[in-house]
This record gives sequence, C-alpha cells and structure tokens, in this order.
Amino acid sequence: MAKEKVVLAYSGGLDTSVIVKWLQEKYDYEIVAMTANVGQGDSELEGLEAKAIKTGASQIFIEDLREELVRDYIFPMVQSGAVYEGKYLLGTAIARPLIGKKLVEIAEKVGATAVAHGATGKGNDQVRFEFAVKALNPYLKIIAPWREWDLKGRSDCMDYACSHGIPIPVTAEKPYSIDRNLWHISFEGGILEDPDREPEKDMYRLTVDPFDAPDQAEEVTISFEKGIPFAVNGKSQSPVKLVEELNIIAGRHGIGRIDMVENRFLGMKSRGIYETPGGTLISFAHRELEHYTLDRDLYHYKEGIALKYAEMIYYGLWFTPLREALDAFIQKTQEKVTGTIGMKLYKGNIAVSGRESAHTLYHHGMVTFEDDQLFEQKDAQGFINLYGLPMTIRGMVEIKARQKKEAGKN
Ligand code: ARG
Repeated sequence: MAKEKVVLAYSGGLDTSVIVKWLQEKYDYEIVAMTANVGQGDSELEGLEAKAIKTGASQIFIEDLREELVRDYIFPMVQSGAVYEGKYLLGTAIARPLIGKKLVEIAEKVGATAVAHGATGKGNDQVRFEFAVKALNPYLKIIAPWREWDLKGRSDCMDYACSHGIPIPVTAEKPYSIDRNLWHISFEGGILEDPDREPEKDMYRLTVDPFDAPDQAEEVTISFEKGIPFAVNGKSQSPVKLVEELNIIAGRHGIGRIDMVENRFLGMKSRGIYETPGGTLISFAHRELEHYTLDRDLYHYKEGIALKYAEMIYYGLWFTPLREALDAFIQKTQEKVTGTIGMKLYKGNIAVSGRESAHTLYHHGMVTFEDDQLFEQKDAQGFINLYGLPMTIRGMVEIKARQKKEAGKN
C-alpha cells in the first residue's frame, strides 16, 4: 500500500531538514516539501531541490508567491493602515496565511492527508499557519513537530542531524532567529532576549546604521492609485519591483528599523527587531495621502479599523468573515486615495516634501488667513455655543452647587 503523504513547509534550514527525517521515522509518511518564495533571497533558495531530495523528501514544490504576497496581502494591509502596537509593520504575520494557503493547495494537488510546519509551540507563526489550514481545509491533519518531539533546541537538532546523516547548513550560525521576506526581516531570540541590550551593529541587513547614512538628503516620490502604490519617482513599477526598489532607497538612509517589546498572541511579551525600509516609506506616504484626501470622520473611524485589522493580521485571523468585511469597508475608503507624496530621506528620518492629488479635500480658500470670501467667521460663534452647550450647562450646575455649599458653611 502506498504511504500517506504529508506536505511540509520547508525552508531548507536545520529545523525543517530534521523534520523531514523525523516525519519519516515517527509517522512513516511520504514527505512532499513546499518552499514558499516570499522574497527571502536567492541564497536561501539555492540548491533547495537537491537538498530536500537528499534529506528524504520525495519531491519539492518551490512556489514563487512574491507577486501574490504583495498584491493580495501586503498592499491591502497598507491600505488598511494596520500597524501592530504602534510599531510593527507585520512583515512575518502577513506572509503566513498565504504560505498556509499554498500548503493546502499542494496537499490537495498531491493527495496528501496532512501538512506540517517548523514553527515552535511558543510563537505566533504556528497559530497563523494552522488557522489558515483550518479555514481552507479542516480535514487535513496538522503536524507541528516542535510541539511533539523531545528535541529541546538548536543543539538537540544538531545532534539529531549528525546521527541521521542530515547535512548541517554550512552558513555561519546566527545567534538569533531570522525571518525574511520582501517586506521585512525580523530578528528575535538568542542574544536579543535581553531587552536591555542593543543588538550588534552588524546584525542589520536591509538598512545602514542611520548614523552612517549619507549627509545628503535624498528625495523620492511615491504615487498611489486608490491607495495602491504604483510608481516611484514617476516611474511605474510592478508591485514586487516597487517594494524592492524602495527597500534599497530607504535602506541606504537607515529608514525602517524597529526595536520593540510586543505582546504575542499566546500571552507572553517578546522582544523583536525589524527592518522594513521600503514598507516604512510606503506606509508613511500612504498615511500622508490619506491626510490629504480623506474626509475627517472617515479618517478618524478608519483609524479604529486599522487597530482591529492589525490585531487580526497578527493573530492570523486572515481567512475570516470579519477580515473580509473590513476589507470591503477599507476598499471603499480608498476610492479617492490617489496622488503623489514627495519625501526627503535623511539619516533614518522621513520628512514630507510635497503633496499632489486631484482628490484632495484641502481647500485653500476655506482655510486661508488671508481673505474671508467663503467662510463666515461669525458662524463659528453659534457652532461653539451649541457644541459647547453640555459644558455650559454642567458649568452652571456646578457653580450653583458650590454657591449652595458655601452659603451653608456661613
Ligand atoms: N514577532 C514577529 C511576529 O510574530 C516575528 C516572528 C518571526 N518568526 C520567526 N519564525 N522568526 O510576527
């Protein structure tokens, strides 16, 4: 009888290599590897096929998800304005549902009965992968070796690899866990677990140290159509190219570094460091354009939606009716978010240097101090009288009460 198949989210690193062997030993599965190309870089993808087969996978699917990731996940997130706990631009979180979705697709294609991943039992990523799988095919069994086996950490993994003839990655061991895609790179764990300690200067990969950035500011413009960025410095780009180019431009000015302590979904606080250079620029420009084009009440209401949307992405609640409904709202809000924002980049900072939109609600005649043709200043008095009525009434009542009290004292 043919063996049952499991599709493993495979990165080619030590952990997932060990998982291939462990799945065979423990469950006697046929292992199908699935690697998502989300822009982690060619060096991580090189030689993967040979490596997977050598480690014991029967076949590997390397899926180029970059375009889909940016178009269907990252850009809608930008439109929403989602930022987790005021700092994190959600680079890892936003990619997980898509990887989960591909796991399900490949599982259905090859007739697998299970999927597996290398996320640990302490983190957010296990939740995000598994929520996606449950939403899209709840009949698949989910295997999370880190929650099952006795291996405790990296050195146990090394021992297991040695005793099972698994080639150990030749890349120098990094003292932290790294997750990289087109949007960002994250570092956590290891020496970063002390929140009171700065990371080594050479840890960063996408950004220069702001102190070492050029002494000359650089100008850049980003153009949006209905909240979707489509051009840099007036030149139209595909979504993937646009993010890549902005990563380079912002990176050379040290823009987009975040060092934070965040609340994980499972309840504990963890310290993470992120580099999101292009994403920081795009988010900045998008927000600026919304300031310029959105109706006041809509903008304020949308700020609350952004908090909720960020939490949902962080928690892995992507394939849910609420996220879809919020998306419908967000898309409606973006109808007029078309235009161009100019920025100056200087040593880790972004300053807005220009705004242009045919849909701006900025009305010079209305706001100017200079002439009074459109706006009747006298009207403001009635506005203040009525809007301030509750304050006026309360003030009157309190004064009366005070007078009564004082009269009683005498
Ligand atoms: N703390 C971030 C998040 O939960 C980053 C997680 C990084 N994941 C990793 N496997 N290194 O989204």
